[in-house]
Amino acid sequence: MFTVPPISPERLPELLRLMPKAELHIHIEGSLEPELIFALAQRNKITLPYPDVESLRRAYAFTNLQSFLDIYYAGASVLITEQDFYDMARAYFVRAAADNVVHAELFFDPQTHTARGIAMETVINGLHRACVDAKAELGVSAALILCFLRHLSEEEAFETLEQALPLRDKFIGVGLDSSEVGHPPEKFARVFARCRELGLHLVAHAGEEGPPAYVWAALDVLKVERIDHGVQSVKDPALMRRLAQDRIALTVCPLSNQKLCVFPDLADHNLGQLLDAGLAATVNSDDPAYFGGYMNDNFVQTFAATGLTAQHAYQLAANSFEASFIDEPAKRAFTERLQNCFATS
Ligand code: ADE
Ligand code: ZN
Repeated sequence: MFTVPPISPERLPELLRLMPKAELHIHIEGSLEPELIFALAQRNKITLPYPDVESLRRAYAFTNLQSFLDIYYAGASVLITEQDFYDMARAYFVRAAADNVVHAELFFDPQTHTARGIAMETVINGLHRACVDAKAELGVSAALILCFLRHLSEEEAFETLEQALPLRDKFIGVGLDSSEVGHPPEKFARVFARCRELGLHLVAHAGEEGPPAYVWAALDVLKVERIDHGVQSVKDPALMRRLAQDRIALTVCPLSNQKLCVFPDLADHNLGQLLDAGLAATVNSDDPAYFGGYMNDNFVQTFAATGLTAQHAYQLAANSFEASFIDEPAKRAFTERLQNCFATS
């Protein structure tokens, strides 16, 4: 057990920024900043339905998940070439490194691109090359998780898996995202069973807007290793006990939850409640270009709004390494770096 030294509230924001951390819930298409959307549109001779960066940014006023997804899928339409996917991921890694993110597991949505006639190899090869360079040039280790869009059919998910399997060595797992309510995890039971046989890691968005029943189904039907979001789990005490007992990590995204009106205000966020109940919660940015902040913005703003402590900060960063899909020696090495950071601050 590591004992967190006393740290004054004034020094906490600096520590939150400095501490090494892993990001486990970032949709790489959600890191496309308006400036890059416009630059890629120009490069690819695409006309956008907004005259300039400012008017696009003004459209980022969301009322729920669906109101965001509509604009997020439209933004991704500027991605055409392998270099576009590389440039998007590279910009994220530079930003992540500045926030002392030392490891990142990136979601990508291939169906958003293959539906527009972009080849699966174009998507995966561009993102994978950016992951390799992130390690070599920025010291950020990285891996890819392919997400199935849950508003589409199970058959389309199977087709997507088939298209991706020739590139199996370039992604480590699969996830489930997009419109949650009305698309329960059970819809994808067979495709997740197949992915499990293939030795892929399994995660799923559940309990972002949807009920605790979706979290149970993600665990018991899909057999996922982590729950993305999961904040609605507090409504079900038996589910909270299950998540704590099995150390199932929740990849929580506070600024996303605030911008999509999951909580009326950041001060109302239940991150502290999840941690104090012994759950392996982590902090993540989800779609940082749309929700007003990358990793350190999420940490600093959430701690300021909710009054979390240095002990919570240590726990969140330690959880991020524990819940990652890196090997045990790498987990130990990152955790040691984290402890050194706290011990010397
Ligand atoms: N795709 C991108 N961001 C998402 C989110 N927050 N929930 C579900 N699907 C998403
Ligand atoms: Zn997400």
